[in-house]
Amino acid sequence: MTSKIWGGRFSAGPAAIMEEINVSVGFDQRLAKQDLHGSRAHCAMLVAQGIVSKEDGDAIQEGLTRIEKEIATGNFLFKRTLEDVHMNIESRLADLIGAPAGRLHTARSRNDQVATDFKMWVRAAIDTIDDEIRKLQSVMIDKAELHADTIMPGFTHLQAAQPVTFGHHLLAYVEMFGRDRGRLVDARKRLNECPLGSGAIAGTSFPINRALTAEKLNFDRPTANSMDAVSDRDFALEFLAAASILATHMSRLAEEMVNWSSAQFGFIRFTDEFSTGSSMMPQKRNPDAAELVRGKTGRVFGGLMSLLTVMKALPLTYSKDMQEDKETVFEVFDTLELCLAATAGMIVDMKPNAEKMRAAVGGDGLITATDLADWLTQALNIPFRDSHHITGKIVKLAEGKGVGLAELSLAEMQAAEPRITQEIFNVLTPEASAASRTSFGGTAPSEVRKQVEAARTRFLTRTAP
Ligand code: ARG
Repeated sequence: MTSKIWGGRFSAGPAAIMEEINVSVGFDQRLAKQDLHGSRAHCAMLVAQGIVSKEDGDAIQEGLTRIEKEIATGNFLFKRTLEDVHMNIESRLADLIGAPAGRLHTARSRNDQVATDFKMWVRAAIDTIDDEIRKLQSVMIDKAELHADTIMPGFTHLQAAQPVTFGHHLLAYVEMFGRDRGRLVDARKRLNECPLGSGAIAGTSFPINRALTAEKLNFDRPTANSMDAVSDRDFALEFLAAASILATHMSRLAEEMVNWSSAQFGFIRFTDEFSTGSSMMPQKRNPDAAELVRGKTGRVFGGLMSLLTVMKALPLTYSKDMQEDKETVFEVFDTLELCLAATAGMIVDMKPNAEKMRAAVGGDGLITATDLADWLTQALNIPFRDSHHITGKIVKLAEGKGVGLAELSLAEMQAAEPRITQEIFNVLTPEASAASRTSFGGTAPSEVRKQVEAARTRFLTRTAP
């Protein structure tokens, strides 16, 4: 069914259709701040190089200041007929200061302009996300410290494998988020070269100073190849790729929260602030925020796929396809910000239930089988492969009787290996098991406390550049 609005607009003819597909100001106005910043630097450089007079330069800077205020106070009228944010600002500058406005675009094209604006936007986005991840790590480390002693089952194949501490489990995610920050910081370093001055494709005949513009815009240096500069969107792809891995981590954590908060696990409980009721089933407390963090991962992956697809067959240099780069990046940024805040909120909100976790470790009483095998090797010097085999026999015996390992008698143990002594019973409790895992990075409460301190130093003292 044709919508009336669209049908109406297109019946106005090709011009209307062209405007509809070409216009980007609806979304690229988010680049306004960067565009103004870039124009100021470009103008100052043109004046410094004697390409534009001081008077014209001053008029331009003054006009840009007025535009900045208009935008900040919501008094700037973005016009669709002027296509994009760049043309809107330049046209408004002409309204405000007249003729000198025409000198701003000397030695500049929208191609190097948009590449520069967008890079600065992504750079700021990286700094914001880095900071949001740091905040998330901070609340997770605090929670981990509180629960350095809280015993829970650690899972492999979603089957209880060995006793771990809840603090240790949380710190695993702190590591993942640390790597996410590493990827973002790394992308930021590679991104930080200034395209401005590359012109439309070939550079310019004006005696510009690219190092000066780069410096004014806080870039490390100018880009080295003008053709690459106007057609490169690697920085956006790298942001989206790092964002996708980050979203994967948030989704895994969200999935755990969904499991943990279910009646079947009962490991955590969210307060009313982070649970929703069911419209029909009064007993339900649904972890909607966690499910939405998990679900929104699709948008982030979609953004990466979208831009990879836009870029994959573009010949050098700029093609209008590249205008499709912005919305996905904006949406991914907004999604990450929201999901990071929601995840941090849930971490603070969640009330772990230590009794439930401990009971789940108790389960069938077999979770300390590895401890039994380790003891055979450590106390009796039996090669680990053989210890594993002997333990298998003991586990089978316990299973057959429907009891836990600690409930077997010494005589029953000795039937499998005569040298076993009473001492074995000291290693069969989940607490002893966890406490014995003191290897670097292990789950012992003493080790987890050390990891908490190390994580604070590694992750919380560093802030975005
Ligand atoms: N709005 C355009 C974009 O976002 C700006 C660059 C336009 N360049 C051009 N040659 N038409 O890509």
